[in-house]
Amino acid sequence: MNFSKLFKGAVAIAALTSNAFAQSVPADFDISAIAAAGPPPTPTIASNVAAQTVVYNANAVEASAAAEQSAAAQDSAATKVKRAACDPQLQGAGPVPCPDTDQAFVSYAAFASAASAAPTPSGYVNTFKNLKAMNNALGYMGYTLMDTYDVPLCSSKCDKINGCAAFNVAFERSPSLDPSPSGGACEQPATTTLIKCVFWGGPVTAANAVNDGQWRNNYHVVIAGSNGYVNQTVDYCQGYNAPNFYGGRALAAPNDCNGQSSLVGTQYWNDGHPFDSRRCSAACDAQTNANPNAPCRFFNTYVISRNGQSYGQYCAMYKQQIDDSYATLSQVQYNGATYSVSYSYSFANAQNNGLPCVASPITSCSSPGQCGTYRQCNPGANCYCGYDTANNVACFQGAYCSSQTCSTNAQCGSGYICLSANSCCGFSICVPNTVCANGLNARHIFRRGAEKRDQVQGLSAVHVPDGGS
Ligand SMILES: *[C@@H]1O[C@H](CO)[C@@H](O)[C@H](O)[C@H]1NC(C)=O
Repeated sequence: MNFSKLFKGAVAIAALTSNAFAQSVPADFDISAIAAAGPPPTPTIASNVAAQTVVYNANAVEASAAAEQSAAAQDSAATKVKRAACDPQLQGAGPVPCPDTDQAFVSYAAFASAASAAPTPSGYVNTFKNLKAMNNALGYMGYTLMDTYDVPLCSSKCDKINGCAAFNVAFERSPSLDPSPSGGACEQPATTTLIKCVFWGGPVTAANAVNDGQWRNNYHVVIAGSNGYVNQTVDYCQGYNAPNFYGGRALAAPNDCNGQSSLVGTQYWNDGHPFDSRRCSAACDAQTNANPNAPCRFFNTYVISRNGQSYGQYCAMYKQQIDDSYATLSQVQYNGATYSVSYSYSFANAQNNGLPCVASPITSCSSPGQCGTYRQCNPGANCYCGYDTANNVACFQGAYCSSQTCSTNAQCGSGYICLSANSCCGFSICVPNTVCANGLNARHIFRRGAEKRDQVQGLSAVHVPDGGS
């Protein structure tokens, strides 16, 4: 994947955001990579079975997050039931309205009152009540049929499923006999009402309650009395403090005390797995191991939705703990779609949260001319001249010896050059080649080669497509 192109796209789009004061999308939220990744795979939801189980293998998923490899899809082979005309179908336990029509089903008072009366189990938040659609949320985890509209029972089942973060309870109008083929003997069989308890790995919301049924030939499957519940407690991440809940907001982090980005990498997974904060902590630990110069001490992970539909889990990693007040980003407009944040949590490394930030000594020379061939541009001392490692004259406004070391310009990010070892530091470092403030001399701004921004960090925007590389 060509990240340079993606980043250029992001710049172009930033100017199009709805805000009148064209607001740029912060680097924390790599919208072009998110948009390029697309939707997660569609889950295979079994029909005509009493229960379906989707097993989430957290260890495998976390290991692959750490290895930046694509997670092998943990597809549970949904039970395929061969159907023949008029075959008896699974019987539900719910009441059947009279007359037995789709219209009567969706407006049946008993369904509405069961939904309205249902209690909210402790530890859960009720996100919607009595809708006529079921959810398509993040990370399908299976379902079970119930004998009654029993929300506490459904929640206790969710609690026992590794990865279950939310559930949806609803009445489904279902044919008692196979209604195929169209025009056959059983195309309008008597209805049986299924009471479904469906498990999800990410939040169920009114926005992602979009499955309002389907046609099975001429029989109309519809939904009534649909309620959603979300568990707000995410798993503890080993080595990290208890999470901070940001709700529907993501960090747009400021630079650190040396004026450098605090972001050390991002990952995004749209593989249909449940939300798992440990996946991001595994990536964070791997970042620190892979690049001790840009360690990850803090991360923010959340669900990304496109136009209300859950698409994937995002993971932004930082070299230091960021104050909650920077959790300000709730949505981004991109190519006509709205990408929004939900279920956002941050975790700080328990041993070392990267604070306080230590100011690095500045490269500026106290006695100009004492630094080899390194020269001051003007007596006003507001910019410096030097050479990049390709021996071009370079102009910049201060830098830090603690900056990333380099040997070629290409190793530095876009807008940066590799200042040669003749600087005060005694070794080559990446410096921003900004325009200097004085107008005495024409300044030469270098734009070297292709943008190699993603090389700067050990882990960068990595989209893990379904089952692919
Ligand atoms: C919520 O999720 C957490 C973490 O997976 C789990 O330990 C807990 O049992 C769930 N239920 C409640 C009511 O918190």
